[in-house]
Amino acid sequence: MSEHIDELRETVRERYAAAAVAVAGGGTAQDCCGGGDCCATGAMELDENFGASLYGAGDRDALPIEAVAASLGCGNPTAVADLRDGETVLDLGSGGGIDVLLSARRVGASGKAFGVDMTDEMLALARENAVKAGITNVEFVKGTIESIPLPDSSIDVVISNCVINLSTDKSAVFAEMARVLKSGGRIGITDVVADDALTPAQRAERGDYVGCIAGALSFGEYRNHLEAAGFENIRIEPTHAVAEGMHSAIVKATVTDSACCGSDCCS
Ligand SMILES: C[S@@+](CC[C@H](N)C(=O)[O-])C[C@H]1O[C@@H](n2cnc3c(N)ncnc32)[C@H](O)[C@@H]1O
Repeated sequence: MSEHIDELRETVRERYAAAAVAVAGGGTAQDCCGGGDCCATGAMELDENFGASLYGAGDRDALPIEAVAASLGCGNPTAVADLRDGETVLDLGSGGGIDVLLSARRVGASGKAFGVDMTDEMLALARENAVKAGITNVEFVKGTIESIPLPDSSIDVVISNCVINLSTDKSAVFAEMARVLKSGGRIGITDVVADDALTPAQRAERGDYVGCIAGALSFGEYRNHLEAAGFENIRIEPTHAVAEGMHSAIVKATVTDSACCGSDCCS
């Protein structure tokens, strides 16, 4: 990995660590972006298009205030993933844990929800939130979404909320999703997606990388990555604008049987 990529990932980690510390100290992730020291080097560009306002009151009221306050996503993937009793769910970039906790409730005691995040401060916050919520069928694991620390073919549903745009190696993320999913498994993701006409430079004019804008894939790029990793039944639907020509979108797909069995993971 180049020095620049390493630096970018470290900038992302530092920024979200600061957000977690702000929430643990009684603030909100948004306070962190309101000009406080933790965001002195740039805004996370949170507004009404991001965070807890994208969840229904029923979801918000059922969780500890800190889990809600730490919400930094651009949608509600648990509402689009059609989770069922007994399923195993994995949330990529689980932050303060809001989507893991909601998933755990939806899959019930016979199911389980995992969260993977690279930021220690977020993992600590998420684990505390699980204890406060009294939810035990969850596990928060430290790791990157480019190298998920979970076994092959172990997950029914991968969810993620506004994180894949932050990855510095998106091909690896899609390949890892296919690897950990069971045959026929599915994804229900919310993420920022750019109009196909926007160049990477134009995306960067609309917002910074840590603020979930500059690193966004276009609709076509998202589809290409998913197809290359072995996904089918792909649907990418914009829900609301987050910047000119940039949208929050719901991404759904299923993994083909051959995505796993054509590779080493089934050998
Ligand atoms: C925009 S926040 C979203 C958090 C959560 N999904 C939510 O909706 O509130 C991004 C989260 O992803 C994590 N993250 C970013 N890049 C990551 C990577 N490459 N691997 C693992 N975690 C990552 C950050 O630490 C942070 O907790």
